[in-house]
Amino acid sequence: MRPSREAIHGQWSSRWAFVLAATGSAVGLGNIWKFPYITGEHGGGAFVLIYLACIVLIGIPIMMAEIMLGRRGRRSPINTMRHLAQEEGRHGFWRYLGWMGILAGFLILSYYSVIAGWALAYLVRTGSGVFTGLTADGVNNIFYSLVADPERLLAWHTLFMVMTMVVVARGVRSGLERAVRYLMPLLLVLLLVLVGYSMNTGAFQQALVFLFSPDFSKLSPNSVLIAMGHAFFTLSLGMGAIMVYGSYLPRHVSITRATFTIAGADTLVALLAGMAIFPIVFANGLTPGAGPGLIFQTLPIAFGRMPGGEFFGALFFLLLIFAAWTSAISLIEPLVAYLVENMRMSRVMAATLAGMVTWLFGLGTIFSFNIWSGDRYKLFGLTFFDLLDYLTVNIMLPLGGLLIAVFAVWAMRRESSVSELGIGDGRLYRAWRFVTRYITPVAVSLIFLHAIGVL
Ligand code: PFF
Repeated sequence: MRPSREAIHGQWSSRWAFVLAATGSAVGLGNIWKFPYITGEHGGGAFVLIYLACIVLIGIPIMMAEIMLGRRGRRSPINTMRHLAQEEGRHGFWRYLGWMGILAGFLILSYYSVIAGWALAYLVRTGSGVFTGLTADGVNNIFYSLVADPERLLAWHTLFMVMTMVVVARGVRSGLERAVRYLMPLLLVLLLVLVGYSMNTGAFQQALVFLFSPDFSKLSPNSVLIAMGHAFFTLSLGMGAIMVYGSYLPRHVSITRATFTIAGADTLVALLAGMAIFPIVFANGLTPGAGPGLIFQTLPIAFGRMPGGEFFGALFFLLLIFAAWTSAISLIEPLVAYLVENMRMSRVMAATLAGMVTWLFGLGTIFSFNIWSGDRYKLFGLTFFDLLDYLTVNIMLPLGGLLIAVFAVWAMRRESSVSELGIGDGRLYRAWRFVTRYITPVAVSLIFLHAIGVL
């Protein structure tokens, strides 16, 4: 029997609702916290160039494939994959793709929430004027005293997890659509204000050279893997988050247009964050490779000096928290959707259970910055947090994305993808199919092999 194509969890109210929610998922800590610090660690321009190439050649085609599978399957990722594999006469093992995504989302959220907790702590600190007139050293001290204190980190992590699970328990759509519509553009405006400030007071020229003039000698095989992993992370790809959102997408909406809008907005936010932060880094003699604390050690310097810095600082962290919130929700939605569909749990029950386990796992990340930061607790020189980040972002997401691409263009019949993408069988479709069939899988595989030293 032909399965019905009705969404079992309801649909987005319009194309915009989907684009906003997916942009809300894509734009988050990845753009503002992570992109600048990994760019700093991997030497700037060449890394940025590889990252942009990965967005275009790998991210965009896979996003189209992932949304397409979601809309065709109309279920949580595991059931979508099971269903589509059956429909296309393929092996049932494809459903494990859904499982891997659920696991990746849960692991990522466990540390994502801890970092979002830092932003919560900084909302209070900037708003109360703690940074006013401080030197770079003073700002540094505040950061280190925060991360050295597991109890404080735990309190903020707990608050963020509760915020996330409350929204998930109520259903992703209620309230969120409207909030994203206003707050996302506001975040963009505020980033522009910060870029303007950095342009006037920081080492703007030096920052532009750092970000946009590639020096390939600074790039290691591992840097290329990290740039690719980040392309998946920042676009929320490879773990079923965008697939779940796609499963609520009405039929008439153009997947291609939505994809370009989401990827464009996401990339813009990341580049603006880089342009706001690096001038401050260079003007204050800080090191670009300072690591995960980078934005927390740079932006407060600017907020401490600019007129109205308390207000702008608090607003910035508020918007960052909001951006992280809309991403966090999508990280756990595949698991919650599965629990509701297959375990017959209520949404509230599913969200509570998923939230508690994620919260507990977050303790590992909290301790990575203090009681487990010593060498005794490291594996290959990496802390628990580093390992979790590496495993999920650089291995699980690209692997998930690769399998999504392979399924969409090798396992699925051509007619199925033509009919679902809805762009006809013309040049655009053929370009997508060619890139997704050959370029994307080959690029992802080569980068993997290169990173493990086989190539
Ligand atoms: N894209 C989010 C960010 O850049 O912060 C993180 C993320 C959300 C990754 C959802 C993966 C995901 F499924």
